[in-house]
Amino acid sequence: MAHYDWKELYNSIDGCSKCRLCEKRSNIVIGEGDPNAAIMFIGEGPGREEDETGRPFVGAAGRLLEKMIGAIGFERNEVYIANIVKCRPPGNRTPELSEAEACLPYLRAQFALIRPKIIVCLGATAAKYIYDENVRITRDRGCWKQSKGVWILPTYHPAALLRDESKKREAWEDMKKLRQKYDDMSQNA
Ligand code: URA
Ligand code: SF4
Repeated sequence: MAHYDWKELYNSIDGCSKCRLCEKRSNIVIGEGDPNAAIMFIGEGPGREEDETGRPFVGAAGRLLEKMIGAIGFERNEVYIANIVKCRPPGNRTPELSEAEACLPYLRAQFALIRPKIIVCLGATAAKYIYDENVRITRDRGCWKQSKGVWILPTYHPAALLRDESKKREAWEDMKKLRQKYDDMSQNA
């Protein structure tokens, strides 16, 4: 789908029924942010507020994500934020393999248009589908991977930080690493 422009991509997603998550959704949450962003954040899938508004990460987890982005000196609209699946899994369950596989071509098309330098995987589901099906987030978070010239950083999902405050210190370490990588890359660009 790399030949798509944004308009074609939006048109192709409109009304999508490639997986059964289409049945209960209110809105498709495509993603938002700077279409030329250097950094892309990938979550799991829309929750209730995202489903209602059509925007990614606008609920409690989203407010925390925004704070984390702000704490390293970026604004939400300078990065791009999306999810593995674009329709809400009922009851916020984890997306199934077949659902993620049905939806991933859209995310790949977004990557191809944005061409980010850094991808931050928020939680195990994002990390699993973006670079390693055997990822364990508690073990692998904070460890950079490089794939096809893109740097990938797995970290905790902000919802996990809301459930367990003790993870926040490690998440903050990861955000500092993200800022450092961005600065290093900007200097060498
Ligand atoms: N959790 C996610 O993974 N994505 C969102 O957009 C909101 C909450
Ligand atoms: Fe289509 Fe993705 Fe929604 Fe499934 S989750 S219906 S593939 S947009």
